[in-house]
This record gives sequence, structure tokens and C-alpha cells, in this order.
Amino acid sequence: MTRAAWGLAVVVSLSVATAATFGVAFWLLRSGPRQASSSPMHGPPAVSEADRAARTLVDRGRNYSMYLGCNACHSTDGSRMQGASWVGLYGSTIRLSDGRTVIADEAYIRRSIVDPGAELREGFANVMLPYDELTDEQLDALVAYIRSFATPDR
Ligand code: HEC
Repeated sequence: MTRAAWGLAVVVSLSVATAATFGVAFWLLRSGPRQASSSPMHGPPAVSEADRAARTLVDRGRNYSMYLGCNACHSTDGSRMQGASWVGLYGSTIRLSDGRTVIADEAYIRRSIVDPGAELREGFANVMLPYDELTDEQLDALVAYIRSFATPDR
């Protein structure tokens, strides 16, 4: 074969390969969305059992908080009342009046509800009464509710 013929053969085979690649990509793109048929555009989004359970736990926490009067001292809009706001509380670093710092994780929040005076937050008065007769379920729900106001990266 001449040099020109080789050149032509290479160009043709490259075009065929390119066309085949695009063909496969196009086919994949077309078949992709059809698998995700439960996208929000078509019917309600799929809610897993775990999501549902977490949501009802937060809802119960909101009810307990209202019933127990927590919101008289803790806001859910960022404003400071007698106690700190729950916005951004979960996962944050808390300075205690004895100079120590703690991470406001689940364990700390539970302890603070059951025995608030044990780890007093710096800059706040020791006015919260202990809620030491709550059930585990109530504590879980309150923690989940407080956690729902965490800033997104926590
Ligand atoms: C009379 C006002 C008052 C009530 C009612 C109250 N708290 Fe508090 N709470 C405070 C104050 C003040 C602090 C900070 C001082 C301390 O650490 O005890 C605090 C601290 C906390 C903390 C530790 C986090 C932090 O910011 O230091 C949590 C969690 C908490 N409260 C949850 C609750 C929950 C849940 C309820 C309802 C079951 C509740 N509080 C009811 C005043 C209150």
C-alpha cells in the first residue's frame, strides 16, 4: 500500500472507533435515566424506612421539647435565651465553666439533659433543672431533634 492509502486507512478506522465510542456513550446516557424512574420528576421520591424512622424520631423530639418546656430557654432560630440556641449546637465545641472544652456529641447532650449542672457551659447560669426521669426513647428523640439543627457539615 502507498503511504496515502495507509493514511486513509488510519483515518477511516479512527473515525469508526470514534463513532462506536459515541454510540455506546449515547446508548448508556439514554438507558441511564430510565433506571432511576423514581426521580422527583416522576412521582414521589423514594423514602426509605430508615429515613421515615429518623423523621418520626425528630418529630417526637419536637413534641417532647414543647411538652417539657425546653423551648422556653433554648431557641431553634439561633437567638440566645437563658440557654444556648440549638442551631449549630450539635457537633460544636463547648467551653465549660471549669475551663475544659467538650464536643457536643450525643453523649454530652444526653448528660446535659439528665444532669445539666455537672458540666456547666461557660457564660450561662446554672438554671436548668435536671430532667432525670426521661426514658431512653425520650432522650433519643430529644437528641435527634437537637441534632436536626446541626449545621450541615456536622
Ligand atoms: C430554665 C431554662 C432551661 C430549660 C427549661 C431547659 N434548659 Fe437546657 N440549658 C439551660 C441553660 C442555662 C444551659 C447552659 C448551662 C448548663 O450547661 O447547664 C442549658 C444547657 C443545655 C444543654 C447543653 C448544651 C449547652 O448549650 O450547654 C442541652 C443539650 C440542653 N440544655 C437541653 C435541654 C433540653 C432537652 C431541655 C428540655 C428537656 C432543656 N434543656 C430545658 C437552660 C434551660
